[in-house]
Amino acid sequence: MQRNLTFRHRICKIARDYFDEQGFTEVETPVLVRSTPEGARDYLVPSRTGAGKFYALPQSPQLFKQLLMVGGTDRYFQIAKCFRDEDLRADRQPEFTQIDMELSFVDVDDVIAVQEGFLKRLFKELLDVDVKLPLPRLTFKEAMERYGSDKPDTRFGFELKKLNDVECVKNTEFQVFANALASGGDVRGICIDGGSPEYSRKKIDKLIESAKHYGAKGLVWIRVEADGSFKSSVDKFFGQEDLTSIADVFGAKANDLILIAADTSKIVFDTLGFLRRHIAGQMGLLDDRQFNLLWVVDFPMFEEDPETGELSAMHHPFTHPKEEYIPMLDTDPLSVLADAYDIVLNGVEMGGGSIRIHDRDLQQKMFDVLGITKEESMIKFGFLLEAFKYGAPPHGGLAYGLDRMVMLLAGETSIREVMAFPKNQNAQCLVSDAPNTVDPAQLAELSIAVVE
Ligand code: AMO
Ligand code: AMP
Repeated sequence: MQRNLTFRHRICKIARDYFDEQGFTEVETPVLVRSTPEGARDYLVPSRTGAGKFYALPQSPQLFKQLLMVGGTDRYFQIAKCFRDEDLRADRQPEFTQIDMELSFVDVDDVIAVQEGFLKRLFKELLDVDVKLPLPRLTFKEAMERYGSDKPDTRFGFELKKLNDVECVKNTEFQVFANALASGGDVRGICIDGGSPEYSRKKIDKLIESAKHYGAKGLVWIRVEADGSFKSSVDKFFGQEDLTSIADVFGAKANDLILIAADTSKIVFDTLGFLRRHIAGQMGLLDDRQFNLLWVVDFPMFEEDPETGELSAMHHPFTHPKEEYIPMLDTDPLSVLADAYDIVLNGVEMGGGSIRIHDRDLQQKMFDVLGITKEESMIKFGFLLEAFKYGAPPHGGLAYGLDRMVMLLAGETSIREVMAFPKNQNAQCLVSDAPNTVDPAQLAELSIAVVE
């Protein structure tokens, strides 16, 4: 723990030095704020002076850093505490830290160039690792199609291949494939090099069990035997020739194992994206001293709730759509791509950001598409819209998850290992025993009654 805390300190020190040299000013933004729309649940703080009113703890300094741009702070940065009341995982805590920044008069390439300089220096000074620049960039679409994930781990292969157009798949009587294709879904697979001897029937059944968490109803497997012949779970429907045509898509060779999922494209991507990393872990292919950094760019602007059909912003509602897509905001919002980017390290989203909207009308339009009414947007973000009236410079930025960065660089598998006094799975601080009940007098002062 001592080692990790020192390590964390050194990362912060390098960040402060680097961004200072690049002309950034560290500005502290408030912690008692109005709720910011980053998509998670807010932590609320009751107000004593305004009975019945609440502050929210910031999910990020997003709105304030944009106001700083309007106010003329050309380059802002901050090591900022953020608070999100969401379900905890190994890489999520309810309070965490961002290395947050924003720059005026920039485009995507400018923001990325500043970050790449930082990452190069960080890896060199801390680990004596030479990061080769420029970092690879994958579009969101390419990341999904090749890796089934918008945060691909490229330390190993097992890339996804689409099988929809393979003749024997297209014309099959096998209902699982036929139904998926008929309803507009996908048949895709991965090929595990040398995977066949490693995965017995029993082990494959276990893979299928864990894939069910991602919506998969099953998996088809094809083994390439040592003599180059095939054995599969669908021998009834596919002869050796058919299986050859599928194996050719992957360039499969003796002892390889092909796993295929058929469903909606979302379920297929989620399932195979999970499986390739899960299997790589089981096969010991995840070297935590190899650092594969890459950018994922051109994210969709919106995502659709599969149940309600409602649109929400994939990054946040202040993200600028790619210029050429603006006309499609009215006609085909789900096809609109955004000037948004994530920095991914070994399959973990280490940071993310975007170029922002700096035009009041376009921002209003964005709220319209998201179904946020004029009144609602004025109440929630009026201060930002108002500021845009005075002329906002084009601006954009990014925030790293500091905890995740330290975790990955220190070779840990949970951010709890690199935080002093982290919360447990129930969001409790076991050291101070928080959260806890408070004195009734304190509640009365806040005009709060607790419902048992
Ligand atoms: P975003 O929500 O993507 O963007 O957050 C930026 C980075 O913060 C980290 N992170 C977390 N780390 C630990 N626990 C959590 N609960 C948690 N949630 C997020 C991730 C993530 O990549 N305002 C925008 C940034 C911007 O647009 O400039 C934002 O907050 O590593
Ligand atoms: P069933 O139709 O449930 O008897 O499944 C027949 C075979 O197809 C089994 O080997 C299942 O594991 C497999 N399977 C079922 N659903 C899917 C799916 N969505 N994608 C790929 N394989 C599947």
